[in-house]
Amino acid sequence: MKEQFTDLFRFEEDLVFDDLYPRNIKNLSQLHWTPLNIAQMAADFLSEPNTKILDIGSGVGKFCITAGFYNPQSCFHGIEQRQDLFLFAKLAKNKIGLSNVEFIHGNLTDLDFDNYDHFYFFNSFYENLHPENSIDKNIEITADLYDYYTTFLFDKLDRKPSGTKLVTYHGAKEQVPSSYTLIDGSKHWALKMWMKR
Ligand SMILES: C[S@@+](CC[C@H](N)C(=O)[O-])C[C@H]1O[C@@H](n2cnc3c(N)ncnc32)[C@H](O)[C@@H]1O
Repeated sequence: MKEQFTDLFRFEEDLVFDDLYPRNIKNLSQLHWTPLNIAQMAADFLSEPNTKILDIGSGVGKFCITAGFYNPQSCFHGIEQRQDLFLFAKLAKNKIGLSNVEFIHGNLTDLDFDNYDHFYFFNSFYENLHPENSIDKNIEITADLYDYYTTFLFDKLDRKPSGTKLVTYHGAKEQVPSSYTLIDGSKHWALKMWMKR
């Protein structure tokens, strides 16, 4: 099934991939969804046989779907708080027919981080600081939530075992515990690959 979708993933053809979604979702892509080339580079670093990788705030699933398409040896999971985005992610995944991609509807604070080996984080809490750039007005957005989620994630990442990998895209250094070493920041100015010591 998935072979027929290879064109969706051709080098940097984001506009073609974004056609999987309705126009209002497509219009959000440039600001809010991971570009294909970034998703590929991040997934190359994160992916290992038989590992579970979590996208923290998975939106309409662009990272997980791209990563899963190119890395069938790993499972990519996404958690998303907005139900409509979660449903669009599920639809797109089913259309392509990827068995190594799963989406969960919920808040990341309800998730058991022990279930995941490595993590991808596209500055998901940023809209709490800049509501003018928010995806929609359907959820609560406050600076307090930014602090709460950032501290929550920081603690969870800090407790993960040595060898845990993390990729941040447009992240701030302060969001990453000092127990993580920067392995590669050379591929794109906003893309950083980390590993826990
Ligand atoms: C910048 S978008 C990135 C989407 C996706 N990771 C990608 O790269 O294409 C961040 C997403 O995180 C979600 N999000 C933010 N805070 C969350 C939380 N506490 N729990 C679950 N999802 C959250 C937002 O609703 C949004 O869809």
